[in-house]
Amino acid sequence: MTEPILKITNVDLGYGELKVVFGVSLEVGTHELVGLVGGNGSGKSTILRAISGMIKPWGGQVIFDGQELGVQKPHEIAALGIAHVPMGRQLFANMTVEENISLGAYLPSARKKRAENLARVYSLFPDLINKRKDLAGALSGGQQQMVAIARALMLGPKMLLMDEPSLGLAPLLVKEVMQVIRSVAETGLPILLVEQNVQQVLKISDRAYVLDNGKLVLSGPSPELMGHPMVKKAYLGL
Ligand SMILES: Nc1ncnc2c1ncn2[C@@H]1O[C@H](COP(=O)(O)OP(=O)(O)OP(=O)(O)O)[C@@H](O)[C@H]1O
Ligand SMILES: [Mg+2]
Repeated sequence: MTEPILKITNVDLGYGELKVVFGVSLEVGTHELVGLVGGNGSGKSTILRAISGMIKPWGGQVIFDGQELGVQKPHEIAALGIAHVPMGRQLFANMTVEENISLGAYLPSARKKRAENLARVYSLFPDLINKRKDLAGALSGGQQQMVAIARALMLGPKMLLMDEPSLGLAPLLVKEVMQVIRSVAETGLPILLVEQNVQQVLKISDRAYVLDNGKLVLSGPSPELMGHPMVKKAYLGL
């Protein structure tokens, strides 16, 4: 692998006095779709929050594109090119699809490229073109997830962080959203994908890390992990 775009080394994270992530190291290569999976409360979202600067590491290092993120503020990290698709999509239900998508272009650099990025986003999500004047709240959960991804892409990011995009979706829509994520990855954008839905993530990702109670317990190429006895037993119900 060439130099990874994101390299996390030995990070400890927590809230108040409570440590919840212990010495985690992981990396994402320039064209990789990497899964970070694990059960409820295992610390997945906490790791994403540390990358996007919402919480500060207690120890260890987070390096993105050659820069140490630990000391930077969320808006500085966004300006470096990390876009975070938050859990629960967080759209404005009473605004149109296009208004929601456009909100992603909030940084001056992105505002200048708004039209260009919008065209790119619609070519990636053609289903949204006919819906662009509809209220976001009227869309299906799967389409809302596409809007949330589209909004993040309006930043023109160098990397995407996604938190549980399949949450609350019916199985058929989960598959659809996973295909969409894979197609975004195919454009060359590196993605760190956090999910409880281990099976779906292992199907679309290149590599994955398994987190348990704040510690990494397994990592490797996704096809290998899918056949791993521990993954089969603990996460795939086999
Ligand atoms: N704001 C917070 N303040 C205090 N503790 C928190 C906070 N957010 C998360 N935690 C705790 O940190 C631990 C890890 O939580 P985190 O949200 O990172 O897990 P997760 O893997 O994303 O879980 P889920 O799959 O349920 O989203 C949990 O024990 C949780 O209770
Ligand atoms: Mg979470």
